[in-house]
This record gives sequence, structure tokens and C-alpha cells, in this order.
Amino acid sequence: MSHLTIHPNHPLSGRCHVPGDKSISHRAVMFGSIAEGETVIHNFLDGHDCRATVQVMRDLGVQIDVDAPTELTVHGQGIDGLIEPNRVLDCANSGTTLRLLAGLLAGQPFTSFLTGTEQIRRRPMDRIVRPLRGMGAEIIGRQGGRYAPLGIAPARLRAMEYQLPVASAQVKSCLLLAGMYAKGLTIIREPGPARDHTERLLKAMGAPIQVLGPTIHIERPTEPLKALEIVVPGDISSAAFLLVAASITPGSRITIANVGVNPTRTGIVDALQAMGARIRLDNLREESGEPVADLEVRYNELQGTTFGGREIVTMIDELPVLAVAATQAQGRTVIRDAGELRVKETDRIATTVSELRKLGARVEPTDDGLIIDGPTRLLGGPVESHGDHRLALALAVAGLVAKGETTVYGAEVVDDSFPGFGGTLRALGAEVKIED
Ligand code: S3P
Repeated sequence: MSHLTIHPNHPLSGRCHVPGDKSISHRAVMFGSIAEGETVIHNFLDGHDCRATVQVMRDLGVQIDVDAPTELTVHGQGIDGLIEPNRVLDCANSGTTLRLLAGLLAGQPFTSFLTGTEQIRRRPMDRIVRPLRGMGAEIIGRQGGRYAPLGIAPARLRAMEYQLPVASAQVKSCLLLAGMYAKGLTIIREPGPARDHTERLLKAMGAPIQVLGPTIHIERPTEPLKALEIVVPGDISSAAFLLVAASITPGSRITIANVGVNPTRTGIVDALQAMGARIRLDNLREESGEPVADLEVRYNELQGTTFGGREIVTMIDELPVLAVAATQAQGRTVIRDAGELRVKETDRIATTVSELRKLGARVEPTDDGLIIDGPTRLLGGPVESHGDHRLALALAVAGLVAKGETTVYGAEVVDDSFPGFGGTLRALGAEVKIED
């Protein structure tokens, strides 16, 4: 177990990078595995979750060379080239790995078993098991398929028309992958703009996928998927911690280079700007089918604001750190329609409230969100990650403005999405120590 110790009152300045996007890294490995030829991935996220995806694809018979920790070559086996794994597939703590993989494996002619950490075995799987069964998949899981471990037997899938009950990119992607192994045209409708990296990447690989507003059509490819060279953009979900850090630390001005600014992911930029943050997107360009920009952010006073509705899915992973920003904003911030926070790595409504309160924040949980009153002069002290990377990172950011010393215990989890976080903050001028 390691911990991060943070001292406040150091303005942040300079230029930095964040590690590669987690969602895109998973997809690049998985889709590259069923393409034909060599997919070369640059700026891969070398974190626990994405390494789990690499391992399970190897277990499915795919050769993946790690040329350097963030540079991979995936030797694609073609759409029908995966082989039966001779052991249980360990998805570690990665919901994206488990849910997308279930869709990929549901229509295979072999049996597979999927499991992961105790934490992931508590997360809901019925949201994928039910629609996959509707396509003819043979899946079992604990409590009737509500929880992993999952067992998937060979099945012939049929296409389905399906309205997603929740805006979830993991569920959407799971069903799109299953749709590539089903007979007929699969049609998925989504209630909100969940991240669309699956659609973009499959399209770039030449899959028969069509996006018609909130409706997506997919069918079995008649041509092999093309192997690509993919440059993974910096993860905006990781950049979010630095955006908030600079926005709330007086005197700060930083630039985060090469950040993915896919519009299904930029809710945090819009939200912070609505609160008064000074964030500028420079050098906007496209790389590997994804928009990328440099983000410049300077300290500014923030105002409490209300967030809800369709914007929530575009910043779902950033809500704990948005709550930290709200503790420093003038007035009340309300976050609603975010009930999905309860089924992330932790119940992020409960854990954000319990840990921010330890630092003196005025924060109340609601069924589907948070109410935060500010500004509060936070008081440093010991806080706990609860094994949740985004919570650990958000608490470290809170430590930048909390009086005295803040120690985040269980901080090794930051490596799930932001390896090198402590060093990055330090290089920007923060006083951060990582200890084992
Ligand atoms: C992800 C989708 C989101 C997000 C997660 C990554 C993805 O989950 O919270 O961190 O890569 O598809 P949901 O689909 O459960 O909302």
C-alpha cells in the first residue's frame, strides 16, 4: 500500500502531458486483435486495467508485443481467429475489459469464463447479460447473471434492435461487438451521448457500422477489419484532475498537451467553464480519428452551478473531481441525474462524500448526485482511496488547497488510469510525496 502526501499553496505552472486514454487503449488492443495484420499502438495507457486487456487477449491466442510500456504491436488474428482460452480470463478491476469482452465472446464457437477482483464482482452485469441473452447468447453468472464471474458457452447470435436503458458506453460497445458476430442488422439506440470511441475505431477499421444520431447500426463484416497505426490521445479524464488543480490553486497557469477532446468526453471542460474556469483549447487537430487539443488553464474564482441531464454522461468519471472544484466555488453546486456513480469502482456518491467531509467539505449526498456548498477552507488530514483511482486522484487535488498536510492512503490505485501522477504534479510545482 502506498500513500500520497500533499502540501498546499504552490501555484502550478508549465507544460505537461497526461497518459494515454484508457477507453481508447482498451479498444485499440481488443479490436486490433480481431483485425487482420499488425495494429501498432502508440501512447498506450500502461495501467493495471489496460494491462488486463492485453493479458486476456493473449489468453485468447493473440500475440501482443510490448515494444515499450506505452508502445504495443498487436498481431491481429482476424474476426474468427480467437481461440478457446485454457484458463479463466482475469479482467482484474476493469469494467471495460469485462463488459466489452463479454460482447466479443458471446458469439464465439468456444467456451470462456470471465472474472476479476472482488470489487468488479460486485458491479452489475445484468445490463449486458440480459440483452446478450436476447441475441441468443448462452451466458451464466452469479445470481442469475447479475454478477461476475460469467461463463459464456458457444452460441449463434441473432441481430437485435435494442434501446439502452442507461447511457453506458460499456454496454453499447458490448452489444456492438456482439452485433458483429450476429446474423442480420443489429440496431442500438442510446438515451444520451455516451463515449463513441468504439464506433469511431470500428469505422476506421472498415467495419460495417453506421451512426445515425443516437441510433447505431452494425452487422457482420464481410471484409477483414483493417489493422491500423493508432496514436492514443492523452486521457481527458486524467487531464481533468490537472484542470481542476490549476483552476483552484491561486496563481496557476498550465498547459496540458495532446489531450483527446472527443465531444462525448468534454463535459468536464464545459462544466468548469460554466463555473468560471479559464480553459482554452489550442492547436485543435485530429489524430487517429479522434479530436485532440492542448488545454491551457489558469486559476480563476469559481461559481457554484447546477449540472444534470444529458451532460452528465459526458463527464461521468470526472464528477468526484468536479465536486472538489465545487468546494472552492462561491455558492451551491448541484450534481443530479448521476445515479450511475453508485455502480462505479466504488459507490462514488458515498465515497466522495465520506472522504471530502474528512477534509471539512460541506457536501451532501442525494439519491442521484451531490450538493456541495462553497467556498470552504479545507483542512488537510488522512483520507482513503477505497481502492478507487478517481477518488484517490480527486482527493490529492483537494490536498492542493487544504490547510496543512493531506495524506491519501491506498494511493497505488492511481496507476489504474494515471501512472506518474505524483511526478507530473511535482514537475508543475506542487509539493507531493509518494511513499510505500
Ligand atoms: C467506459 C465507459 C464508462 C466509464 C468508464 C469507461 C468505457 O462506463 O465510466 O470509466 O471505456 O466504455 P459506463 O459505460 O459504465 O458508463
